[in-house]
Amino acid sequence: MTRLPVVILTSFLSVTAFAVPYAEYILAPSQRDLSPVSVHQANGTVINAAGVTTSGSGGTTFNSVSAVTYDYTKNIGGLVSFVISSSSDSEQYIGISFTESSMWISPDGCDATQNIAIDETLWFKITGPGNYSVEPLHDRGGFRYLNVYHNTTGNVTLSHLQTYFTAMPHFPDDGLRDYTGYFHSNDEKLNRVWYAGAYTDQLCTIPSTAGNSLVDLDATDPDVPTVWWSNSTLTNGSSAFTDGPKRDKLIWPGDFAISVPGVFLSTDDAITVKLSLQQLFASQNATTGALPWFAQPVHVFPDNSFMDFGKVVFSFNYHLFTLLGLHNYWIYTGDDEYLQNNWNRFKLGLNYSLSFVDATGLANVTSSFDWLRVGMGGHNIEANSILKHTLDVAVALAYAVNDTSHVASWSNASTAIASAANTLLWDSTASLYKDNETTTLHPQDGNVWSIISGIASANQSTAISSALAARWGPYGAPAPEAGTTVSPFITGFELQAHFLAGQPQRAIDLMRFMWADFMLGDPRMTNSTYIEGYDTSGALHYPAYTDDARISHSHGWSSGPVLALSTFAAGLHVLNASSWVAHPQPGNLTNVEAGFEVGHGKYAANYSITAGGAKYTFSTPKGTKGSLVLDVPTCNGEFAILGNVSGNDGHSKSKRGSGHTKSFHWSKQIKHRGFEASPWRCGVWGPSSPSAHSSANDGSITIDGLAGGNYTVDITCT
Ligand SMILES: *[C@@H]1O[C@H](CO)[C@@H](O)[C@H](O)[C@H]1NC(C)=O
Ligand SMILES: *[C@@H]1O[C@H](CO)[C@@H](O)[C@H](O)[C@H]1NC(C)=O
Ligand SMILES: *[C@@H]1O[C@H](CO)[C@@H](O)[C@H](O)[C@H]1NC(C)=O
Ligand SMILES: *[C@@H]1O[C@H](CO)[C@@H](O)[C@H](O)[C@H]1NC(C)=O
Ligand SMILES: *[C@@H]1O[C@H](CO)[C@@H](O)[C@H](O)[C@H]1NC(C)=O
Ligand SMILES: *[C@@H]1O[C@H](CO)[C@@H](O)[C@H](O)[C@H]1NC(C)=O
Ligand SMILES: *[C@@H]1O[C@H](CO)[C@@H](O)[C@H](O)[C@H]1NC(C)=O
Ligand SMILES: *[C@@H]1O[C@H](CO)[C@@H](O)[C@H](O)[C@H]1NC(C)=O
Ligand SMILES: *[C@@H]1O[C@H](CO)[C@@H](O)[C@H](O)[C@H]1NC(C)=O
Ligand SMILES: *[C@@H]1O[C@H](CO)[C@@H](O)[C@H](O)[C@H]1NC(C)=O
Ligand SMILES: *[C@@H]1O[C@H](CO)[C@@H](O)[C@H](O)[C@H]1NC(C)=O
Ligand SMILES: *[C@@H]1O[C@H](CO)[C@@H](O)[C@H](O)[C@H]1NC(C)=O
Repeated sequence: MTRLPVVILTSFLSVTAFAVPYAEYILAPSQRDLSPVSVHQANGTVINAAGVTTSGSGGTTFNSVSAVTYDYTKNIGGLVSFVISSSSDSEQYIGISFTESSMWISPDGCDATQNIAIDETLWFKITGPGNYSVEPLHDRGGFRYLNVYHNTTGNVTLSHLQTYFTAMPHFPDDGLRDYTGYFHSNDEKLNRVWYAGAYTDQLCTIPSTAGNSLVDLDATDPDVPTVWWSNSTLTNGSSAFTDGPKRDKLIWPGDFAISVPGVFLSTDDAITVKLSLQQLFASQNATTGALPWFAQPVHVFPDNSFMDFGKVVFSFNYHLFTLLGLHNYWIYTGDDEYLQNNWNRFKLGLNYSLSFVDATGLANVTSSFDWLRVGMGGHNIEANSILKHTLDVAVALAYAVNDTSHVASWSNASTAIASAANTLLWDSTASLYKDNETTTLHPQDGNVWSIISGIASANQSTAISSALAARWGPYGAPAPEAGTTVSPFITGFELQAHFLAGQPQRAIDLMRFMWADFMLGDPRMTNSTYIEGYDTSGALHYPAYTDDARISHSHGWSSGPVLALSTFAAGLHVLNASSWVAHPQPGNLTNVEAGFEVGHGKYAANYSITAGGAKYTFSTPKGTKGSLVLDVPTCNGEFAILGNVSGNDGHSKSKRGSGHTKSFHWSKQIKHRGFEASPWRCGVWGPSSPSAHSSANDGSITIDGLAGGNYTVDITCT
């Protein structure tokens, strides 16, 4: 039995200044002109190959047929230029090629952007000394290795080689490391994982005019390197938030479901999210309300087959991800005006989704397009979970815009989905949901979303969490709905699902072995940004693509640990610009801290094991309101909560409660309830506060109605 927690609210003076600490982990460069760091490999007769690296000096001479592969030691992106100081004659050639993974180093081409072959090498005729640079349309957004190939007899000498870093174009040249968020823990692997996620999102933020790399998707010859460029304009501003900086360089709403929160928790780049979201809404069909699979560029020329395809294809889930994107943007910015301006589009879109719901209460999905999984159709559990989640979000937003006319019908639709999914799709033998009624396949996407959406009850969530963990392979969590795929995108949601199921250690273990050991540590990776997908065998083969060179090694949809760590492990859940839940879930970490500043204020939290128990400090913005949720430790003990809340009545307050775990006699504001009955889900909080859903189960303590401010919680085992 747990002894009575004693809760004391007294005055508490904090002197901690909010700076952004742990800058040593930030991977973004301090300025934009980047020389290579080291020589990965040199072939042929090259004099002083390292001359043009950051640690070298003097020129680098290529004699006869020769090549050097330079290593930036992390993924970067931008415009390459080099200075020729001398050449034997005016008939020399230099070829430049790029690759993210070391697997595709070649003088004859780059890794790939199209469906087939590799991308062509960029050739320069060297007519004499001078500065040679690629044209802006050859802004290679993601590469770690830069290959310089000299294919002729004679020689050339380079005195300088650089890449002008173009990601985050609207940030000051020396401001790329000005993060507004941070994360740190006693686990170095997790620290690196968080910062690589934040950096991945930065690389995905490209110049608006450098969009759309899918310009030769019709290429058919596997032996001929494809032409490549990207010069579509993606937004009505200077930046665009894309899926990946090498490819597709397009605005995809599915990716947003993971990467948008990551942006707010690290760089608070609200303007890019807003511009990109606006472009998704701009592509909405005004009659049906259908939103696009990906956003059409503002300007694209010439038209290409994929853009045309994008005008007609519909994805049930990606449509919903745009609606959820608006919610995510609004949560962190509190931009009510933007929400209001897009509210009719939101309603029209949600109404379209509801038109797929049949007599069972479930949506019958008739379009196969999703995140490139297979078998997306019928009463699919992922689609219905995401629809339920969106309906719950819609209810919360309806109160925010004071348009509650649909609240009852949306709530009913949400309840009906949960009920029908549990009747038709729950497989109690496997402790997992089936993909649809006509299959025995238990998908990863639908099961993790069943937890996030609340379709799964507390007991089901616990069971699903165990069943998913039991399927893990050595390289990650499998997504059997996509063959032998490991999807860091869907696994990003799986991280959230384990936390929501009260299994933080599983999420932490998964981040350690999948993101840190494999996705950063494997030598084929960039050691800095996250690959979009791979095979359960550990092969860098994404089953959705025939061309392995095409895989993006920097995909925002793989940055899920940023949210998982800041929001769940450190416990800073922003529900909207005026409410939050603080709920640390450190697993067996002995210290975990995170902080961030968004439009409506600053958040910080720090959980540390102490000699007698643990201490949790947290800070939330003035004028907000929230709840503290504490998992009851295994020891007997007490909690002491000290808060300094500006705007309070100024008097110290003291609250006490006593009794056994199951019969606390709390005052009105202080309730004991089971974590398993948690009513708030991943950023959704409707009109009612958590206390409305309190239960008498063991598991956690909730204290509602806390004003934004600085708090210290001492958890003492007795
Ligand atoms: C380059 O070639 C020219 C002409 O053959 C020769 O004079 C020069 O010494 C060579 N430079 C180097 C660095 O090998
Ligand atoms: C260097 O030679 C190796 C072995 O022949 C080859 O695999 C590699 O692609 C070459 N690299 C360059 C940059 O030419
Ligand atoms: C060469 O030209 C490029 C493109 O204008 C520029 O970014 C780069 O700084 C120039 N290099 C040098 C050494 O001036
Ligand atoms: C070197 O490459 C250029 C550009 O592709 C080509 O025009 C030239 O013929 C090549 N030279 C040799 C000797 O292969
Ligand atoms: C909107 O959708 C309808 C029904 O699918 C279709 O007929 C129409 O062409 C679409 N409108 C646009 C502008 O794409
Ligand atoms: C993009 O570049 C291609 C290849 O040079 C060119 O044909 C096309 O007109 C350009 N498009 C835009 C929008 O600038
Ligand atoms: C039902 O799920 C299975 C397994 O994913 C899939 O093969 C099948 O195509 C799905 N049915 C529909 C109608 O999409
Ligand atoms: C879903 O709709 C399609 C097309 O109307 C229909 O053929 C199919 O039977 C429906 N699936 C279910 C599970 O009702
Ligand atoms: C909704 O109503 C509340 C209370 O009347 C008001 O404070 C708020 O500004 C309104 N919000 C919108 C978006 O109209
Ligand atoms: C990977 O990057 C980290 C810094 O983020 C560095 O400490 C480590 O040495 C790198 N690993 C390899 C194999 O280069
Ligand atoms: C935390 O738990 C994992 C297993 O889930 C274990 O490998 C690790 O050693 C534990 N760390 C500590 C500090 O206890
Ligand atoms: C919390 O502490 C910070 C740093 O000392 C301070 O700036 C802020 O005003 C405090 N918040 C409240 C609500 O007292």
